[in-house]
Amino acid sequence: MMNNVQIAKGVYSVGAVDWTMRDFHGYATPRGITYNSYLIVDEKICLIDTVKAPFGAELLERVSQIVDLTKIDYIVCNHTEPDHASALPMVMEKAPQAKVVLTAQGKESIIKHYQKDYDFQVVKEGDALDLGRNQLKFITLPMLHWPDSMASYLTGEEILFSNDAFGQHICTSNPFDDENEIHDIMQEAAKYYANILLPYTRLVGGALKKAETVPIKMIAPSHGVIWRSHITDILKKYEQWGTGYHDDTVVIVYDTMWGATEDMARRILEGVAASGAKAKLHRLKTSAMSDIMNDILEAGGVILGSSTQHNTVLATMGGFLSYIQGLKPVNKLGAAFSAHGWAGGAQKILENSLEAAGIKVESSELALKWVTSKDEKEQCFNFGLEFAKKVQANKK
Ligand code: FEO
Repeated sequence: MMNNVQIAKGVYSVGAVDWTMRDFHGYATPRGITYNSYLIVDEKICLIDTVKAPFGAELLERVSQIVDLTKIDYIVCNHTEPDHASALPMVMEKAPQAKVVLTAQGKESIIKHYQKDYDFQVVKEGDALDLGRNQLKFITLPMLHWPDSMASYLTGEEILFSNDAFGQHICTSNPFDDENEIHDIMQEAAKYYANILLPYTRLVGGALKKAETVPIKMIAPSHGVIWRSHITDILKKYEQWGTGYHDDTVVIVYDTMWGATEDMARRILEGVAASGAKAKLHRLKTSAMSDIMNDILEAGGVILGSSTQHNTVLATMGGFLSYIQGLKPVNKLGAAFSAHGWAGGAQKILENSLEAAGIKVESSELALKWVTSKDEKEQCFNFGLEFAKKVQANKK
């Protein structure tokens, strides 16, 4: 028997829990991933999202314990990324009578991904599906996470099936927020936002306004736990992240070749700490980029440091620069430091990359030769101290 949890009258959680998955296209997931899917049994039967393809059989087993697969009327694809839709072809083989409900962009994506022409029902903002006792209303959320993304809202039970929004990469055996350690859930929600939704921050305010127009008893995302006791908390967090909230934390991210850059990083951290601001330190060889971004989400300052190799930054830093330029954290101040032997190169690349990531560079350059002298150690300390004072003045 598979465990199907009834989360509300006629609404079941039927998705899959991928306990051992540790990587989501580059995002480190030490607590695993869930692919949530929900079954609504009303006068009409509706499946909300599917799962990642390897878990298709598990989804079918869970659903078939509740209803005959040939009786499913609708399969709603809130989002067509493969973690939610790659089991769709497997489900459609067993439920060929079902209409596939999705946005116009979703239809285009499903046809291209799976080369199938299902019985599509394209919906747009404000459209509704009559299920019997309740209606399912559609709220488009373009770019949260893909152009096709939408949420579905079940009247009566007042459940918002939000797909990626409000998700967290964490596996639990119990589906609700209040059945788990809330600190862990909030931490994973932040990490999810920092690594998946951050580039679309300017769209979050509009999405929250749409959510405010309906009463919500539960937010049932497609990753992680269902929010029922901490709805206000997670909405408040999204509002903060969506407006670039930050404290006075300074995150120092570096990599080092022979230790000089590391020495600089540690001296800079001491200077930041001396200001009273909080400091966090990550070496790129030992920290996952997704964990670093989690720390940067609510930080006020980012300091990047690298040794110079071949007139450029170390390769680990090059990867991080590409990552942070794509994510574009909001409302941060930045600074850069570097060490070199006979010729520099890393310093300018770090500073230019910070600007390209939308981070204002608020320091003069700190590019030192070979190893740090006694005076230079003090220079590093003061660099951290002065930068942290600017971050504190900019605290929001
Ligand atoms: Fe969980 Fe954008 O897919």
